[in-house]
Amino acid sequence: MSVRPLLLSLRNAVSLVRLYEADHALVDKAVDRLEQAAEALTLSARGDAALSLFDGRVYVDRALQSHESLEFVDFIRSLQVKEIDSIGITRPVRREDLLALAQFLAEAGPPPSGSVRLNESPYEPGEEDEAPSATYRARYGSAVDAIRSALAAVQADALIDLTSAEWATQGLMDVASVDPAAAFLLSTLKSHDRYTFYHSVNVSLLSTALAREGKIEEPMIDRIALGALLHDIGKAKVQESILSSPGGLDPDGERVVHAHPAEGARAILRAGGPDHYLAAAIAFEHHIGVAGSGYPVIPGGPAPHPASRLVAVADAYDALTTRRPYRRAETPARAQVLLRRSSGAHFDPVMVDLLHQVLGVHPVGSVLRLDDGSLAVVHASSPDRSGPVHCLLVRGPDGVEVAEPDRVEVDQRRIVDQLPGETVDIQPSAYLDLLD
Ligand SMILES: [Fe+2]
Ligand SMILES: [Fe+2]
Repeated sequence: MSVRPLLLSLRNAVSLVRLYEADHALVDKAVDRLEQAAEALTLSARGDAALSLFDGRVYVDRALQSHESLEFVDFIRSLQVKEIDSIGITRPVRREDLLALAQFLAEAGPPPSGSVRLNESPYEPGEEDEAPSATYRARYGSAVDAIRSALAAVQADALIDLTSAEWATQGLMDVASVDPAAAFLLSTLKSHDRYTFYHSVNVSLLSTALAREGKIEEPMIDRIALGALLHDIGKAKVQESILSSPGGLDPDGERVVHAHPAEGARAILRAGGPDHYLAAAIAFEHHIGVAGSGYPVIPGGPAPHPASRLVAVADAYDALTTRRPYRRAETPARAQVLLRRSSGAHFDPVMVDLLHQVLGVHPVGSVLRLDDGSLAVVHASSPDRSGPVHCLLVRGPDGVEVAEPDRVEVDQRRIVDQLPGETVDIQPSAYLDLLD
């Protein structure tokens, strides 16, 4: 039994409790879902379920939940900041105890009691998970941490800690060089309420892959990966309501959003030295466009640095493949078509080609629907672009999830379409452990 529904519904309930009274219909619905998830989890654990939190990871009855640790790394850290090491749930699960838990986490009530208890079964370290996938996830988690602190620093007008951002990018670059498929799979991880965190890490992973494919020298890749990680830190100065505004922006909102490249560059320059000039240039130039059609508008200004043009493509690709409040997520293939349409006008055609070379039509992590209705996740890139696609068969023709997905080589003629994973509730990064 996955702990994902519980974490998802708990996080959702906490954010709603912050906004509405406890008897509001939305809160009611969220607690209903939380109750169902808690029921299912305790039932599969035969009575009691203990979630332990340690070092940004979540364990259920001492078993590491590696995918959930990554997907909810930010939520888990926020619980740990509140000094919560464990959440115990016992049957019969009482609805009011779950509501009390959400209220306590939203700082709107005392700790829960009864069927929900805190800090009674903390995790004891020593049973580390040594699989490479655990290391990759930890690297991704550290990068999320680094970008979260950088955004918090910019918001508070404090200096960003460039050293920890550099460590984090080094970790991401290691994953991308040791196991490029793992890097692509990780880059399919999305978060809607923590969009900027995950987006920044994904753009860094993708930019590293593009730079390597473009045979850029390693020290330069280093700088590009850092600039890519920090490209949006200026968004710390933009209110969340503007960033996720579903409609178009009014002139004031637009002005604030258009200032994020300069704000980001300024924050990097304040905290760094000459070594960080390129990262600052990337932050400043990532929306300008090859012909200066984007923003900030600099009449007669020079063309953006090639590194900024490279990051601009990785940035747009990740943004397009993520669902946002104002538009749906595109599939990898469709995102590439859209980038091609603006190739030359806004994006550097060389970089758009590079992206296609690196990803192909069916990049690692794509979700494919096959001719018999079954669903597959691409798990390895094949050098022969017209040959079979290496996939994991994750859902059968009957729509039932496959417990232990088989590796299959799929003839391209069998591929009916690509789907954004979330429309069919598939998270490609959850299959990281099944890579070769
Ligand atoms: Fe941006
Ligand atoms: Fe971005």
